[in-house]
Amino acid sequence: MNEQPYRLGMIGLGTVGSGVLELLHRRESTLVRRLGRAIEVKKIAVRDTSRSRPYLSGFGEISDLLTDNPDEILEDPEIDLLVEVAGGVDEPRKWILKALENGKDVVTANKAVLAVHGKDIFQTALSQNQRVFYEASVAAAIPIIEMLQNGLIANGITSLSAILNGTCNFILTQMEEEGLDYETALKLAQEKGFAEADPTLDVSGGDAAHKLALLAGIITGSHVPIECIYSEGIQEITSSDFTFARDLGYAIKMVGTLKQHGTGAWEMRVHPTLVPENDLLAQARDEYNAVSLVGDAVGRMSVMGKGAGSLPTASSIVADVLRASRGEREGGNPHGLNVPELVPVGDVELPHYIRLEVKDNPGVLGRITSFFGMHNISIRSINQPEAQMGHTVPVIIITHTCKDKILTDGLEELKKAGLVEQGFTHIRIQE
Ligand code: HSE
Repeated sequence: MNEQPYRLGMIGLGTVGSGVLELLHRRESTLVRRLGRAIEVKKIAVRDTSRSRPYLSGFGEISDLLTDNPDEILEDPEIDLLVEVAGGVDEPRKWILKALENGKDVVTANKAVLAVHGKDIFQTALSQNQRVFYEASVAAAIPIIEMLQNGLIANGITSLSAILNGTCNFILTQMEEEGLDYETALKLAQEKGFAEADPTLDVSGGDAAHKLALLAGIITGSHVPIECIYSEGIQEITSSDFTFARDLGYAIKMVGTLKQHGTGAWEMRVHPTLVPENDLLAQARDEYNAVSLVGDAVGRMSVMGKGAGSLPTASSIVADVLRASRGEREGGNPHGLNVPELVPVGDVELPHYIRLEVKDNPGVLGRITSFFGMHNISIRSINQPEAQMGHTVPVIIITHTCKDKILTDGLEELKKAGLVEQGFTHIRIQE
């Protein structure tokens, strides 16, 4: 057995950081057996060292490990590995680059910093001969990065659709099943420790877009700037949309999609989506994430697991700590620097769900269907629940497959034409 422990310094001790300490303690004997030496947490940098912390089993004297100066980790030659679980973008970028430059490997759960500054970070890792591991940054508990980098290496991945934000999935599930309103469901997700420090990133689709960019980088072997990912949030969805979607045989989920066209170009998008009830993605409830992909050797396969929360995220971090400590290379620079060719979202062809609120007056429905016809949008089904004359009533339209730009331009015109009372909800349908 190697006498020297493998030493790590951690920046951040919130929901995820405490989970890491708990699992390192809980799995200590197995980790020592697997690695042949102990894993030691040498320092933990936090913003406020005086804040009282819950008792952490195995780390009774935790105050001895705390510092408010990250440089005590980044400049300590005895520390082999930086574990960054603080969140944010600018400061983590500086810490990660400094750690790499000072000869340390890095494990991070921070998808935002990698999606925004990945080019810099992975290039620095490569030039310093160091590695960056980031399993926990995408789909928390699901080892999707390990699968894509190793287990599925023999495959060209041609499409992937995934639920990648636990907070959105929790909110949508609570709205659908418990009838909670959006704000109450979001608050509950925050209390459970699922949401980012700024939950706008979750509900706007930004967090899922960061994660999709990281998966896209591995799958396409390219650098995928975050701007390549088209994203929309869940804020416009109302409880009535769940009822109408269910009647039509669909669940509403926040889905990230990567799909390669025959030309080699890629669709990359994150938005609320109507998913057929029998699809695996529709079965993912609450904070669960799910990934379905198609590989040219394995065909279709799917995985599901918790996508947020303390221990599910820490589980992937501890796995990365072990990979780093064993000297595995894969975390180095998985991406080339080329940017893949993209299919603009306007060219994507899908069916669409549209809910309009209209006055229940003679001729309104006729004018709406004519409007769609004039704009070359073909209607697959239309439903107007019974209403009282003169009052507003929802009209639910499902279109045939239609180019995104034709549909969105048509809806803008419809708004201008004054045919709808209050806006509309538009959700793309997964085929
Ligand atoms: N806020 C993220 C989510 C946490 O809800 O999925 C895990 O990345």
